[in-house]
Amino acid sequence: MKHLIYLDYAATTPVAEHTIAKMVACLGQDGHFANPAARSYFDGQRAAAQVEQARAEVAALIHAEPHQIIWTSGATESDNLAIKGIAQSYAKRGKHIISSQIEHKAVLDSCQALARQGYEITYLAPEAHTGLIHPEAVLQAMRPDTILVSLMLVNNELGTLTDIARIGQYTRERGICLHVDAAQAAGKVAIDVNALQVDLMSLSAHKLYGPKGIGALYVASSFRDELTAQIHGGGHEQGLRSGTLATHQIVGMGQACVDACADLSAEQQRLQVLRQQLLTGLQDYADIILNGDSDQHVANYLNITFLGTAAAAQIAAIRAIAAVSSGSACNSHLSSASHVLRAMGCSPEQAQHSIRFSLGRYSTAEHIEQVIAAVAAAQPDHGIQFI
Ligand SMILES: Cc1ncc(COP(=O)(O)O)c(C=O)c1O
Repeated sequence: MKHLIYLDYAATTPVAEHTIAKMVACLGQDGHFANPAARSYFDGQRAAAQVEQARAEVAALIHAEPHQIIWTSGATESDNLAIKGIAQSYAKRGKHIISSQIEHKAVLDSCQALARQGYEITYLAPEAHTGLIHPEAVLQAMRPDTILVSLMLVNNELGTLTDIARIGQYTRERGICLHVDAAQAAGKVAIDVNALQVDLMSLSAHKLYGPKGIGALYVASSFRDELTAQIHGGGHEQGLRSGTLATHQIVGMGQACVDACADLSAEQQRLQVLRQQLLTGLQDYADIILNGDSDQHVANYLNITFLGTAAAAQIAAIRAIAAVSSGSACNSHLSSASHVLRAMGCSPEQAQHSIRFSLGRYSTAEHIEQVIAAVAAAQPDHGIQFI
């Protein structure tokens, strides 16, 4: 069966061949297979050195110190550790948390679990059409009992950028913890956790050409003792996340971060050209609305609602040749309309007629031309019928 044109890089990315080779070298008996916690003999020390090198590589991507990186199984676990970990430690100080209606389910469901335990969550509404969460809205929602603000840097459905630097000023001034889900931002925008004044940051390897099942939580030094562990065991990761470290996964994430650092701005410029090509082409042949902000976004994503009588046929034509997503991939087994688009004011029907195109390393102008040609061919007067 022929592969579809892959335009779902926000859902996950393929692992680069040289990264796979480094990972495989950690698995066999001649490689770094030993338990990195077994520091009393050479092979364990060698595996630990691999883990520590990768920790430094992940830290470098966000301008953190290596000891501020805690390995997790992915951004879902990082979000859970950050949100529940702070909420539990700060319960005596307050029980109010600020987040938004357009967060990933890993954040929304963690907040919901806390709400069942008596915490109060303010879910900020995004601005209609742009989907932006404005810093002033965050400021207005702050209360004396606010302990945590949890917001994403790049939205996984829209690609919009949140002004975390400004929000970081507000949280620091008030001694409120700021957690940022940067799963979709790392590798796409330059990140400096100090400049942004972020206290906790979630990262995921498989969104930036690393393997699935590995991620990290950045923990600012001043919050090291403020976080309550959620997984208990051998006291790994400074007691914050127990469990034998998966050297091969960790090494894969480290290499992915090195690669991301190397070509970040050149790749953004290349993708910006492709994104514009796609947007212009779709505008030529379809009645569309852009969901998201036209300025404050990363180059990788384009979220489009198709309008009019041809919408269903055009969407079917795209789906026939390209792997794309409607709503977020992590929820795509559900047929319900995207909670992000609904929060922005789209009707259920508009949300169902929306597609998230997400471009990445292996996207080409030819791919985009093929998608546009499919949409053009699905025009009502083109004689092709879709049922
Ligand atoms: C913004 C955001 N946060 C968290 C996650 C979950 O990441 P992981 O798959 O590493 O658990 C995703 C994945 O889609 C995401 O886009």
